[in-house]
Amino acid sequence: MSKQYNWYRLTDADDMVAAEQVIVVHEVKGKKICFSRFQGQLFAFAYKCPHAGGPMSEGSVDAHGNVVCPLHRYKFSLRNGYNSSGEGFYLRTYPVEQREDGIYVGMEKSWLGF
Ligand code: FES
Repeated sequence: MSKQYNWYRLTDADDMVAAEQVIVVHEVKGKKICFSRFQGQLFAFAYKCPHAGGPMSEGSVDAHGNVVCPLHRYKFSLRNGYNSSGEGFYLRTYPVEQREDGIYVGMEKSWLGF
C-alpha cells in the first residue's frame, strides 16, 4: 500500500527554507521539523534523534549528506533516514516538493491521526 500524505505549504521560495548544510527548524501543523540542504537539494527530517531524543537541530551535516546527532554522533542519511554509522536506528524523514506556489512538506496521514 502506498503512503498517503497531507501536504503543507511552507514558504514561497525554497531558498528561504534552509541554506546549504545548515539545519533550521520550522513548525508544520504544530510539529517541529528540521530542514537542511545538501548539494542544492532540500531535505526534511525529525526534530529528535531516534536514539535518545537528541536535538537534531543542534547537529551538523557532514560532507556525505548525513545529519550527525549532537549527543552521541550517530549519523543518518538526509535522503532516507538510514543510520549510516551502523547503530540500527532510523531517522524519520519527510518528503519535500517544490511546486509552482511554494515549498510543500508531506506528513503521513496516519501520523496525524487521520
Ligand atoms: S541521542 Fe542521537 S545519537 Fe544518541
